[in-house]
Amino acid sequence: MRRNTSLTLLVTGFFAALASLGTAGAGCGDSGFNLTGGGGEGGGSSNNGGNGGAGGAFVDNGAELFAALEADLFTACGSCHEPGGLGDAPFLAPPDRYQSILSWPGIVTKNVDDSMFVTFSVTGGGHSGTNLDTAADDLEGRVREWLEAESAAISDPIEEDDPYIDPITPILGFNAIYLTPLSEELTGIAITFTAELLTENSLKLDNLQIHTTSATGVHLIHPVFAVYPKGQPGEADPVDSFAGLDSRFPENTSAALGVGTLILTNWQPDAKLGVGFELIEPYSEGGGEGGGGGGGGGPGGCNAQTEFAASAVPQFELRCVSCHGGGNGQATAALDMSDLDTDPGAACVQIKNRVNTNDPPASQIFVTTDPGGNAGHPFKFGGNAANFNTFRDAVTIWIEAE
Ligand code: HEC
Ligand code: HEC
Repeated sequence: MRRNTSLTLLVTGFFAALASLGTAGAGCGDSGFNLTGGGGEGGGSSNNGGNGGAGGAFVDNGAELFAALEADLFTACGSCHEPGGLGDAPFLAPPDRYQSILSWPGIVTKNVDDSMFVTFSVTGGGHSGTNLDTAADDLEGRVREWLEAESAAISDPIEEDDPYIDPITPILGFNAIYLTPLSEELTGIAITFTAELLTENSLKLDNLQIHTTSATGVHLIHPVFAVYPKGQPGEADPVDSFAGLDSRFPENTSAALGVGTLILTNWQPDAKLGVGFELIEPYSEGGGEGGGGGGGGGPGGCNAQTEFAASAVPQFELRCVSCHGGGNGQATAALDMSDLDTDPGAACVQIKNRVNTNDPPASQIFVTTDPGGNAGHPFKFGGNAANFNTFRDAVTIWIEAE
């Protein structure tokens, strides 16, 4: 068991913020929490939104710069990059386009040269739509200036040597955070949730779930979510909502994280969201017996194999296996459809973990791929709502039979 060594994810300011909560170490025994923090700017900052003082040179003009180019960007890119657009990447989703573009994975990056705007949607980058460098009025230069401002607002992690997950700007809607960066052993395990702004300073994370993979389960102790206001160190959830949590999630399952809901009352507009754990390690039910023997029969097994084969399999074959059947490592790690032909029972279990049998339209397999939605999934039927509806109707026959 590894406690808080290489596997523990460090979120920026995590320890400092936790220390200031006074919850540190409670029941954690030998956890070895580094409560003094990394001595960086975050050390000892209070958790009431204080500015961390000192350095202070940071000026948040990202919103301003974006407002000045929003109309031109929308003219050049909006036709394909709103929900329902050809691009399957609705980074200009209304109503708040600024929030949407901040939250789209890979656009605002710590290093501007890594942004997909700079690497992909430019001449020679491989993009099939309008490229930034061909747009009028030096749109590329203005976008770059805006990206520089946003990148300056991203805080560095306190202890860069330890594995951590980059905080994300949540999409107001469905989000998936992958634990892969923490350890190869955790590849494909995801925390999913729906984010909703209750007020400017309160963000609700609902339907918080852990999804394990066919390769591994996970053991979690004391997850802590943290808020990273722009340009400031992180602040942990002030009520430390999951303080007592110690849960094991076997392979091939999806289950609620604690009570499945969290309200962050220290939220700030355009902030990022991070998560850390006192302990996180791979877990296997039956003590590493491995293999897992087909998965068919367990509590998560599928009941409606006939409907699955008749209505659902052809749709997944047609629309999803190109990536989820092994072609795309990340996709297959997240949701493995490689057994659709050879072992449909096992594939069914995998897919059922992303299905909501009580409310089929709310199933993740639909929420993520709906061209009219804003989820950050790379495939949304190329904006074709009719094809999506055909997919959803056919697959729903199986879900209802489950
Ligand atoms: C005519 C439609 C169209 C227009 C206009 C368009 N795009 Fe795209 N965009 C696409 C398509 C289609 C894709 C999917 C990948 C591909 O085929 O290039 C895409 C993908 C992207 C991606 C990758 C998204 C991801 O998550 O992988 C970025 C970034 C992007 N576009 C930026 C832009 C920018 C910036 C503009 C405006 C300057 C723009 N696009 C205008 C069609 C368009
Ligand atoms: C172009 C490749 C591609 C196609 C086609 C594709 N997916 Fe995915 N999917 C991915 C990737 C990549 C991930 C993992 C995302 C990540 O690691 O951030 C993923 C993840 C998912 C997830 C987990 C939730 C999430 O958003 O991470 C679900 C559910 C999902 N896909 C459903 C589907 C369904 C259903 C289809 C077919 C209708 C499909 N996907 C087709 C690439 C694809």
